[in-house]
Amino acid sequence: MWLSRWPLSALWSWLAAWLGYSASLAAGLTAGPAFALGVAIGWALSRLQRERWRRLFVVLGFPVSVPALGWQGEASGLLWLVPLALLWWLYPRRSWTEAPFFPTPAGALERLPALAPLPPRARVLDAGCGAGDGLRELCRVYPQACVEGVEWSRPLAWIARWRARGARVRRGDLWADDWAPFALVYVFQRPESMPRVWAKACAELASGAWLVSLDFAVPDAAPVASWRLGNGRFVWLYRPGRIAPPKPAE
Ligand SMILES: C[S@@+](CC[C@H](N)C(=O)[O-])C[C@H]1O[C@@H](n2cnc3c(N)ncnc32)[C@H](O)[C@@H]1O
Repeated sequence: MWLSRWPLSALWSWLAAWLGYSASLAAGLTAGPAFALGVAIGWALSRLQRERWRRLFVVLGFPVSVPALGWQGEASGLLWLVPLALLWWLYPRRSWTEAPFFPTPAGALERLPALAPLPPRARVLDAGCGAGDGLRELCRVYPQACVEGVEWSRPLAWIARWRARGARVRRGDLWADDWAPFALVYVFQRPESMPRVWAKACAELASGAWLVSLDFAVPDAAPVASWRLGNGRFVWLYRPGRIAPPKPAE
């Protein structure tokens, strides 16, 4: 149903929390218990979300917006739009509808070079590189590779450029890139994106190239390897390209 679609589901959840809060204030409840009720409504509705980051967004929306609205004071009824506009600029719609902003944890890709060895100067892409945490890991584990990142959010691309000095970062749409020149593509996107990532990898990656995904497996595709990180998360390693035909005997 369209009402359950993200981000609409977050908006009506926040609205419900606000309605509960306002109605209980109107009914004579003091601010503290009314606030607690709003938070409880937000928390209950967050349970409808499957993903952890979405639950967090839903839970935090109401308690964060209450002080934000309080800060306006007498100044201007529209002041609360300023942080919202900043957030929109930092994290444009395409970014958060396609993948939330969560960084790759340090050490997550430690095992990659042993399982997916690359020749020197091989090109490696972090597709949706966020603030550059994945890029930093890739530069660390593949010091001889040419590591690149593409990111839709302009400010995040600036931050990634600044934080991952060894990598080349572009602002752009990961789906518009051609993956053919890359020996390894790393993604940390969303479960819903994985069939599209797989189709793109199969269509564009060269024989023997690697696809690596943090957290989200490709449905119905067998990984070459996968490993569990300390916090119960997984890294998935695939080789979607065609296998190179054997060289004819001399
Ligand atoms: C979960 S974060 C991963 C960040 C980084 N790869 C890391 O692991 O540290 C996903 C990132 O993908 C970006 N993103 C989502 N859709 C995108 C698109 N179509 N093109 C480029 N970047 C995109 C988001 O803005 C977000 O920063």
